[in-house]
Amino acid sequence: MMRVDKYLADCGLGTRSEVKKYIKAKQITVNGTIVLKPEFKIEENTDVVNFKGQTIVYEKYVYYLFHKPAGCVTAMQDNLHKTVMDFFPEEIKKKGVAPVGRLDLDTEGLLLLTNDGALTHHLLSPAHHIPKTYYAILDKEVPQEAVGKFKRGTDIGDDKPTLPAELVILPEKTAAELTICEGRFHQVKRMFETVGCAVTYLKRLSMGSLVLGDLPSGEYRKLTEEEVKLLLSY
Ligand code: URA
Repeated sequence: MMRVDKYLADCGLGTRSEVKKYIKAKQITVNGTIVLKPEFKIEENTDVVNFKGQTIVYEKYVYYLFHKPAGCVTAMQDNLHKTVMDFFPEEIKKKGVAPVGRLDLDTEGLLLLTNDGALTHHLLSPAHHIPKTYYAILDKEVPQEAVGKFKRGTDIGDDKPTLPAELVILPEKTAAELTICEGRFHQVKRMFETVGCAVTYLKRLSMGSLVLGDLPSGEYRKLTEEEVKLLLSY
């Protein structure tokens, strides 16, 4: 059971005080009856709550694709830098949304955020090799032999070599797309270091079936049901 004003605010209808105004204006019904008090208790899984005739469905789990800009940290809070959470409004943060994995401070691109712990666990588990594709700009031309080296697995100084990765050197030769199936610390940068190249720009383009597309930097959007289903099927 929960208060109807909290329920509606959690559903993203507005802030608690906005929701209270809707209640005062008799715009909220529960099972067809107008609600008169914000403290009215509802059963969130069975009661039907309507706003101006539209049913407001409680979403326990929410999934967002975020285009992380450079200069913010993938953390819930930080004393020095802006965090990815600073791009999200209070009503989304309140739902317990957190980033799935992390991108470096200077890395841009696709970041998934959710409050679905099971999906997070699934995607981060080393047993599930979710491919992640990065676009990188390097300080010099990427040697052709890097393609085979990365495909075979590369010693980047960890206990084990990296899993096979796919490298596509782009025509300008100082840029490449690299698809890896792990998420080790600074993995892309460390892999390029083994072929004498320093990454000067890094952007994640995709994660499994999810693609960044033309989502502008600093913005987020909800995943579609289909996108969530596909992620779970990895
Ligand atoms: N690899 C890196 O080196 N940095 C990232 O942010 C992601 C992958």
